[in-house]
Amino acid sequence: MVDSKTSPGISVRNLYKIFGKNPEQYVDMVKEGMTKTELNEQYGHVLGLKDINIEMPAGGIQVVMGLSGSGKSTLIRHINRLIDPTAGEVIVGDADVCKMSAGQLREFRRHETAMVFQKFALLPHRTVLDNAVYGLEVQGVSRAEQIERAQRWIDRVGLTGFERSYPNQLSGGMQQRVGLARALTNDAPILLMDEAFSALDPLIRMDMQSVLLDLQKEIRKTVVFITHDLDEALRLGDKIAILRDGEIVQQGTGQDIVLNPADDYISNFVKEVNRGRVILVETIMKPLSGDPEGMGIVTGTTLEEAAKTMTDANTAMAHVTDAGGKPVGSLDIHDVIAAMVTPVAHEEAIAAE
Ligand SMILES: Nc1ncnc2c1ncn2[C@@H]1O[C@H](COP(=O)(O)OP(=O)(O)OP(=O)(O)O)[C@@H](O)[C@H]1O
Ligand SMILES: [Mg+2]
Repeated sequence: MVDSKTSPGISVRNLYKIFGKNPEQYVDMVKEGMTKTELNEQYGHVLGLKDINIEMPAGGIQVVMGLSGSGKSTLIRHINRLIDPTAGEVIVGDADVCKMSAGQLREFRRHETAMVFQKFALLPHRTVLDNAVYGLEVQGVSRAEQIERAQRWIDRVGLTGFERSYPNQLSGGMQQRVGLARALTNDAPILLMDEAFSALDPLIRMDMQSVLLDLQKEIRKTVVFITHDLDEALRLGDKIAILRDGEIVQQGTGQDIVLNPADDYISNFVKEVNRGRVILVETIMKPLSGDPEGMGIVTGTTLEEAAKTMTDANTAMAHVTDAGGKPVGSLDIHDVIAAMVTPVAHEEAIAAE
């Protein structure tokens, strides 16, 4: 068994992408403030990305979110240079992907990155097993090792027994499990997932999110995950970047974004969100006064979990502890519940009184 490589961070720096005949000619104008619409109407070029800067965490999940046409796919395709930037850098570990030679790039794509697509992109005439080993076959790995490595991931994504099935004999959710097994079999430290779960029914989609989160605890890949779904972004993302018209409008943790949406565009996204699943107890705890009361709830617990634990224990007061069990604040069930109610719902409730 080959040891997993350490997953590198990815820094995207001052990245611009303009589509059209002479993109370089327009970079300065875009830098000076020309909008996407102006560039398109006056010069017939499309602004794909403008001054993107993101530090994607090593071994973490970076989500990129935004509406259709906001530049998500354009951005993720720069990471393995399926698209060349008009300006800027994509640094993976300590290498600039944009400066790699054709040979270096081929090696990088084969060994460092794996992609999972929305449409699964399975080979229809190959079995589950033969789809999973495809990348290893290309790398010239022996058949015995191919099978050993693939089988492990086929088992881990829950497809044991389906090795000899063909993609068209499987449901959408199972086909995407094959896509994930194939990506993991390559053992690349970077996973690029462009709307990988978007074609799945809501329940199957949540299932796949759980599979990914579960696996990620162990594999610690650097995952770049594209979605237009905020719930998915909040559930999966260690960090989230939100794009609009090729620009980043906000980035941070899910909690940062839900608590402090940068503008109306983002407020619109977050107003429907279940805040109880995003906000953590330490955000709303009060300073300790006197001895810690009630049960201990560890930092990192969501309000929803805290409310459930406190209700189950039939207690209105609790205290928050750090990971070592030291009390760091106090928690009142009323504050927990008030913070779970969205500001919008709260205003509506007041208006209805
Ligand atoms: N090859 C291309 N030539 C010209 N314009 C392009 C090209 N590829 C993308 N674009 C434009 O760049 C912008 C960003 O497109 P992109 O596909 O990255 O969006 P997206 O956020 O992935 O959208 P979706 O959610 O629909 O997949 C759009 O305006 C699109 O029309
Ligand atoms: Mg896309």
